[in-house]
Amino acid sequence: MPEQVPTDGQDLVVVANRLPVDVSVGEDGETTWTRSPGGLVTALAPVMAQADGAWVGWGGSPGLELEPFDVDGTRLVPVMLTSDEVERYYEGFSNDSLWPLYHDVIAPPTFHRQWWDAYQRVNRRFAQAAASQAAYGATVWVHDYQLQLVPAFLRELRPDLRIGYFHHIPFPPLEIFAQLPWRRQVVEGLLGADLVGFQRGGDASNFVRVVRRFTDLTTRGQVVTIGEGTDAQRHVRAAAFPISIDSTAFDTLARTPAVQQRAMEIRKELGDPEILLLGVDRLDYTKGIRHRIKAYGELLEDGRLSPTATTLVQVASPSRENVGAYQQLRDEVELLVGRINGDYGQVGHAPVQYLHQSFPMEEMAALYLAADVMLVTALRDGMNLVAKEYVAARSDDRGALVLSEFTGAADELQGAILVNPHDIAGTKDAITYAAHLDPRESRKRMRRLRRRVLSHDVRAWSEQFLAVLAAVPRSGE
Ligand code: G6P
Repeated sequence: MPEQVPTDGQDLVVVANRLPVDVSVGEDGETTWTRSPGGLVTALAPVMAQADGAWVGWGGSPGLELEPFDVDGTRLVPVMLTSDEVERYYEGFSNDSLWPLYHDVIAPPTFHRQWWDAYQRVNRRFAQAAASQAAYGATVWVHDYQLQLVPAFLRELRPDLRIGYFHHIPFPPLEIFAQLPWRRQVVEGLLGADLVGFQRGGDASNFVRVVRRFTDLTTRGQVVTIGEGTDAQRHVRAAAFPISIDSTAFDTLARTPAVQQRAMEIRKELGDPEILLLGVDRLDYTKGIRHRIKAYGELLEDGRLSPTATTLVQVASPSRENVGAYQQLRDEVELLVGRINGDYGQVGHAPVQYLHQSFPMEEMAALYLAADVMLVTALRDGMNLVAKEYVAARSDDRGALVLSEFTGAADELQGAILVNPHDIAGTKDAITYAAHLDPRESRKRMRRLRRRVLSHDVRAWSEQFLAVLAAVPRSGE
């Protein structure tokens, strides 16, 4: 038995860059935490509630050194990051090298060797923390691009574990991935897992192509074989598992009288527009916010939408504010919004309501219910859960979803009005079409969308992933 195996280890260990809570220490030295509302937290809460589980992650502030603590029966294990590591591993390598590279180089990725050193060091720390929590033969589920080296580091420490990895963002085509100076190390890091999951089939194929190009390993379909001789062999399977949301919870929330009332209030507060358009995104250059606002501004200019009878509400929640590309995007978006409101606004009415804020779920559900048209125009997106939330909230079978074909959601959500957001003329046509959709057609589309979103929820997603992981044959099996 490896010496690292703890006596009180857990059967399921989740490893993600962020803990499901944000932790802070007040001036009196008291630790407080608030639930971080991310999709992953909602996704894994039911799984964690069932298992004897631990969650390894960063508490969200630099320099915090904390002992593991329990929340709702899950052991939370904080990993410490110094402020220098937050800069180099999180803001630098994760969000200024990998993030733009993996999203089709929409923004130019920056590569620095010091960032890579920090990424390796921090990934090793996460692997050590996971190793110290997992019982003998336990399952460890590693999440996302910030932690691609963890599977291999962890296997070195604990060959007894069953290791799964899920990649929440796109996995780029070989020709783009090849730009990464440390491409071979990243591929080898991922191959430490028994199962590597992606959002779309295309992402899994891109990964297998990359494995073929940058290693000497044998691949057969989506299975990579490592080592020789039946006993020494290990298989790594790549496959698609499109993530989802807690659809029933969202549906239920949107049916509550308080949320329905709030939805009516929102329309009233906006001056009862004939057409209410909605965008909800993290303020990120992958989301196509500028393209969407530009298309909307032109529709007002062309007179195809009336500036007095139409409102676009754009929620842009603050994100990664220390990274230059995000600061630049904020300036560009705010300039554009200011121009449109300056040109087409009136006293008491702005055609764009721009909110650089985050809102609780209840308010989001009310906004979804209030909106006639939801605009999801990402230039590239692993899945896009906002599209699914909008659908789950529409138990009235009304509303329309304009959805970029460059999102993972587009593979699943038939019933959406698909657009290429780079094509501004096409996007303008799609917005106009959606805004004037015949109610029967809109109902037909929404019913189709809802069938998919309600039947394929996040619980199904995690159960499927864990079931396939449990079935991957181990060495000698
Ligand atoms: C995306 C990523 C997640 C990340 C989230 C928020 O959804 O796939 O891994 O947690 O964005 O970004 P942040 O940098 O604030 O964690």
